[in-house]
Amino acid sequence: MAKDLTTTGPDHVAIIMDGNGRWAQKRGKPRLFGHHAGAKRVRQIVEACPDLGVKYLTIFAFSTENWRRTQTEVAGLMKLFRRYIEREARDLLANGVRVRFIGDRMKLDDRLVQLMDDLELLTSGNDRVHMTVAINYGGRDEVTRAAKRLALEIEQGRLTHRDVDAETLARFLDTHVLPDPDLVIRTSGEARISNFLLWQSAYAEYEFIDTLWPDFTAEEFAEVVGRYAARDRRFGAVKV
Ligand code: FPP
Repeated sequence: MAKDLTTTGPDHVAIIMDGNGRWAQKRGKPRLFGHHAGAKRVRQIVEACPDLGVKYLTIFAFSTENWRRTQTEVAGLMKLFRRYIEREARDLLANGVRVRFIGDRMKLDDRLVQLMDDLELLTSGNDRVHMTVAINYGGRDEVTRAAKRLALEIEQGRLTHRDVDAETLARFLDTHVLPDPDLVIRTSGEARISNFLLWQSAYAEYEFIDTLWPDFTAEEFAEVVGRYAARDRRFGAVKV
């Protein structure tokens, strides 16, 4: 999505919430203990968004690669997502948060998918903050699924190869209703993007910060968002 060249605060912040496992290990606790602490952080960060002028928040909760973790951790995370939705739904609705989920739902448990669908519907009238949660999400997987659906449109005669351009392909992405992220934050000191919003982040600014996700406070979030405003974004253009 095109944007004007004046830099203000980010409209859309995307976060790779990394470091839950190390946070728990440092305390001699199981990894899931860190994920539970991480889930509590999510609430504080979402609530901080309106005051910072952040309209869209997209968070990476479970990647297409995370299935490789132990069965205990995967099952624990899936249960945590279900409980999070059950417990937070009322407050998310009351706080004006519109929740969406991206990622491939085919591999997810039916109970979780039902809760996701219900929460999307329940909050669909909200517009204060748009929170998107990526579950079983991978950027390459998303682009591949989009390409498949686009190919089907062509096969069935609704589009031709002449219609295929970046804009048309983007209409088939999970994120088709969202603007591109302006700022991508990754916590825990790792400087990788790990298959997150590959297409959408083509012109995003990145912030890699050392804090482990369960320690990432609303104050630090405000600092990182503040630093963004000082950056000079040109989207490939030359400044005049
Ligand atoms: C990465 O830390 C974190 C995850 C794979 C899970 C993210 C989940 C949450 C923050 C909690 C729940 C979220 C919602 C929306 C309820 P890691 O386990 O890779 O940490 P490590 O790199 O220290 O091992």
